[in-house]
Amino acid sequence: MSECVVVLDFGGQYSHLIARRVREYGVYCEVMPHTVSSDRLREKAPQGLIFTGGPNSVYEEASPSCDPAILALGIPILGICYGSHLIAHLAGGSVRRAPVGEYGRIAVTHGGSALFDKVPAEFTCWMSHQDYIAELPSGYIGTARTRTCPYAAFENREKGIYAVQFHPEVAHTEYGDQLMKNFLHRICGCGEHWEMGSYTRDTIEALKEKIGGKKVLCALSGGVDSTVAALMVHKAVGQQLTCIFVDHGLLRKDEAESVEQMCRAKFNMNFIRVDARDRFLGKLAGVTEPEEKRKIIGEEFIRVFEEEARRLGEISFLVQGTIYPDVIESGAGNSAVIKSHHNVGGLPDVIDFEEIIEPLRSLFKDEVRKVGLELGIDEAIVWRQPFPGPGLAVRVIGDITEDKLAILREADAIFREEVAAAGLDRAINQYFAVLTNLRSVGVMGDFRTYDYTVGLRAVTTTDFMTADFARIPYEVLEKASARIVNEVPHVNRIVYDITPKPPSTIEWE
Ligand code: XMP
Repeated sequence: MSECVVVLDFGGQYSHLIARRVREYGVYCEVMPHTVSSDRLREKAPQGLIFTGGPNSVYEEASPSCDPAILALGIPILGICYGSHLIAHLAGGSVRRAPVGEYGRIAVTHGGSALFDKVPAEFTCWMSHQDYIAELPSGYIGTARTRTCPYAAFENREKGIYAVQFHPEVAHTEYGDQLMKNFLHRICGCGEHWEMGSYTRDTIEALKEKIGGKKVLCALSGGVDSTVAALMVHKAVGQQLTCIFVDHGLLRKDEAESVEQMCRAKFNMNFIRVDARDRFLGKLAGVTEPEEKRKIIGEEFIRVFEEEARRLGEISFLVQGTIYPDVIESGAGNSAVIKSHHNVGGLPDVIDFEEIIEPLRSLFKDEVRKVGLELGIDEAIVWRQPFPGPGLAVRVIGDITEDKLAILREADAIFREEVAAAGLDRAINQYFAVLTNLRSVGVMGDFRTYDYTVGLRAVTTTDFMTADFARIPYEVLEKASARIVNEVPHVNRIVYDITPKPPSTIEWE
């Protein structure tokens, strides 16, 4: 893959969105932290650079900046919002706090530029800024303005540096697509070479070459990432790959069976299902603290996997379903750990592998789904919502028993069925049931009951870092609630969780 555009991340909320958009326009794109050196970029020689937005003000001491030599590399640059301020600031212009900020849809007028090719002279853009560029650096000219912002776009054509105060990457900016394409294809000279079909074919060829005649192991969780990664390797080396699926007894209704069915019957993969249910439930008996549950499950998972790998003998490679958002080094700094996310992927220093293979390392989630569909994986699995490694253990509040898991599995299956039946399964990013540890009084027939409360959780989110509760129609909630209390013994009350994240988290534990 020769052509590439690099997004320099200054901590903006749209940084990943920019990279995804660029790929949608057929250009391979990577996100790098703003601290990357100009030498590293010279070596990488991308066709273009995009500076993202960010929450800071360039004139403040501690604000993120970049190596000023990057502006002199001769690589075309597009600065967006904070990125545009930084260009002005580093090149000797002046950025100040505006008396009034601009937020939301704003009318903008341009006077022509390669960046505005095929864009009408007046259009509506999406703005979100308080600072503005008061004076341009020398050599730069203004190319667009709004009622209050004199330099809504500016450029130095000779140097190939372009900047916009607004956000062309968001859908609310009219002609945002056109503007991004103008930058990529017209200004940077990129073609449209990035498409999933050729990525899949090239990766499978490269895997064949790398693996040769050696043996490969994969810890399959049944989630979309590990399934697509395993299938890619399977297409490359067939029976040299063995998939280990650890059934820890904390899976959803019929989940283990459906994964096994797909791998064995549909794809004829070497598939080992390890029934470790008693082992996990034994270790978890009486444990109520969420982090303790996670720790036990994470450690036990590694032990089980290790034992199976030893049994198989000489294995050279381990496949993991790591995807691009897992590896991006953000410019925004480290945040506090709220929950330790023990991923099945976070495996082992404990076994000697020659190398870890991560065939999805450069893909975003929607791209992984495209590859999955191309490889013939069922839609139900390709669109499967995320499911935490510790499974239902963090959805049964308090101590875990077989009985409680059985109640939760049934309630969860009904809720998911009803959400899907209402056609909401793709619009809602994650939805599931939780078995609370609360029992309360109810009445059924003429009898008093004293049974469990089930919580229903459904969220919309783009990155799972923040989330809002899904506005599910009352009729759908009503149907799910009625079915659960009627069909699942020991449940007499249903509540719907209407807290966003933050202050809540998506899972209840
Ligand atoms: P929270 O609850 O932290 O969840 O808002 C954010 C996303 O992460 C998933 N999650 C986990 N995934 N191991 C995982 O592999 C875990 O321990 C874990 N805890 C939460 C959660 O399902 C949501 O998608």
